[in-house]
Amino acid sequence: MNWFSSKLYDPIMRHCEEACLRDWRRELLAQAEGTVVEVGAGTGANLEFYPDDVDEVILTEPAPHMRDQLLERVAQQPNPDRFTVDERLVEQLEPADGGFDTVVMTLVLCSVDEPREALQAVCSALKPEGKLIFLEHVASRRGGRHTAQRIVEPVWKVCAGNCHLTRRSGEAIEEVGFELKSMKREEMKTLIPFIRPSVRGIAVKK
Ligand SMILES: C[S@@+](CC[C@H](N)C(=O)[O-])C[C@H]1O[C@@H](n2cnc3c(N)ncnc32)[C@H](O)[C@@H]1O
Repeated sequence: MNWFSSKLYDPIMRHCEEACLRDWRRELLAQAEGTVVEVGAGTGANLEFYPDDVDEVILTEPAPHMRDQLLERVAQQPNPDRFTVDERLVEQLEPADGGFDTVVMTLVLCSVDEPREALQAVCSALKPEGKLIFLEHVASRRGGRHTAQRIVEPVWKVCAGNCHLTRRSGEAIEEVGFELKSMKREEMKTLIPFIRPSVRGIAVKK
C-alpha cells in the first residue's frame, strides 16, 4: 500500500465499519486467546476488540504508512504495552516457542501475492489445535457479479494495494490443512458491490 491508499483506507472503510465490520470484528476477536499474532494489522481496526485477558499481541504490518497509523492507534489504547508491532510479511511468520495459540487475519488474503503460501506460513506458526480467526472479502457466488469482479480485478489490483476480488479464501483455508469450526458468508454493507461478498469465522489447525 502506498502513501495515498494508506491514508484513504480508514475514510473509505468508515461507513462499512459502522454498518457491519465493527460488530463482526468484536464477535470474532472475542475468541482470541493465549499468545496472539495479527498479520497485516493495517491501521489497527481490531485493536480495541482484543479481550482483556489477552496480554500479548504481536501486530505485523509491512506497509510503512499503514504501520505509522497502527503505531498511533496502539498508543491510544488503554493498555498499549500488550501490543508489539513489527514489519514482517505473513510469509515470514515463524512459530513462537511451541507455536502461537491464535493468528488473526482480517482483509489480508486478498492482498498477498500467494494466498496458499501465506496460509501455510500461518498454519506452521500455530500450535496444534491453534486457532485462525479470519475475515476476508471473496469471489462472488453470483455469476453476473463474479464476471464483473473478473473484469474489474486487473485495474483494481493496481489501484488498491494488490487487492484481488476473486479469491476463494474460505476454500483455501480448508485446503492447506485447517478444519473450519465456523464460517459465515455475508455481504459487507455499504461497499461497492464487487467487494461485498465476504467470509468470516474460526479455523483450527488439524
Ligand atoms: C485491506 S488492508 C486490511 C488491514 C486490516 N487487517 C483490517 O482488517 O482493516 C490489507 C493489509 O494487509 C497488508 N499486507 C499485504 N500483503 C501482506 C503480506 N504479504 N503480509 C502481511 N501483510 C500484508 C497490507 O499492508 C495492508 O495493511
